[in-house]
Amino acid sequence: MYNAFFGFTASPFNMSPDPAFLFRSSQHEEALANLIYGVQSRKGFIVLTGEVGTGKTTMLECLRDFLNSQQIAFASLFNSRLTVEQFFEMLSYDLDLRCNRLSKTEVLITLNGLLLERASAGRTTVLIVDEAHNLEWDVLEEIRLLGNLENRRGKMLQIILAGQQELDRKLEAPEFRQLKQRIALRCMLRGFDREETAAYINSRMARAGLPGQSVISPELLGEIWFRTQGIPRLINAICDNLLLTAFAMETRDATLEMLDEVTADMRLEYPAARPFHPEPGYPERVLRQAHTPRLERA
Ligand SMILES: Nc1ncnc2c1ncn2[C@@H]1O[C@H](COP(=O)(O)OP(=O)(O)O)[C@@H](O)[C@H]1O
Ligand SMILES: [Mg+2]
Repeated sequence: MYNAFFGFTASPFNMSPDPAFLFRSSQHEEALANLIYGVQSRKGFIVLTGEVGTGKTTMLECLRDFLNSQQIAFASLFNSRLTVEQFFEMLSYDLDLRCNRLSKTEVLITLNGLLLERASAGRTTVLIVDEAHNLEWDVLEEIRLLGNLENRRGKMLQIILAGQQELDRKLEAPEFRQLKQRIALRCMLRGFDREETAAYINSRMARAGLPGQSVISPELLGEIWFRTQGIPRLINAICDNLLLTAFAMETRDATLEMLDEVTADMRLEYPAARPFHPEPGYPERVLRQAHTPRLERA
């Protein structure tokens, strides 16, 4: 809605996990490198965890782009609330297995044949499961068994489990001790720090056609980091609403008052009482307003 007003050619803060807007923070860079390395060196299990909105699905999208570019076959499950039957059906659908997809035995036999064939041609196959913290125990158990398939060159199926921190707790259960021991690589995503948050916002706005943006001041960028704890999804939501508010007020300068309104509308909770160590030069006015309870301010 506000794109033309600010001069954007695309929406800068879209919620979709679009690799075209990828901001290569060091942790995202490392996570993606780990995923690719894990697949290429046939490590078997790779686990990616992180809070909601930290970029896990975005990383998986980037990995899918890579797999497509290398013509590596993969199955990717995004709805992890599946029964065992549905799991095998989806797997065979994604890998285009020619068999009775409703028969687990047939799927397993056909899958084994495909993996062997691909492995002997020096190729690997990947299973990606997003939101893996939601997996039922029995499905997780089937996945563990699939991870056992190997030939002399290593695992034939590379399995990537991505999910919220509950996934780590799930894998702690005694039943999964074996699986846990076999996780070759682990990566974890956290919120951005203050500098990364500013660079992230600027990079998305530049990607959308506004390099060197001056709509959101450096102080306000710091404030956005403080209120979102650097979680990309929250940053996107806040910035989108902030730009919309500025547009509605017909100004190209977002203000702290607008940010207050947006965060209040979003019912965003942030640790206002947290000790805050501003850098030298941080404007007194912004500090006072941002860290004084709203009522006192009035
Ligand atoms: N490194 C990144 N570069 C660009 N956008 C990102 C990055 N990390 C997260 N995002 C954005 O943040 C939002 C949430 O990311 P997502 O991958 O869906 O998180 P998760 O799967 O961990 O909940 C998406 O809009 C996505 O585009
Ligand atoms: Mg996700």
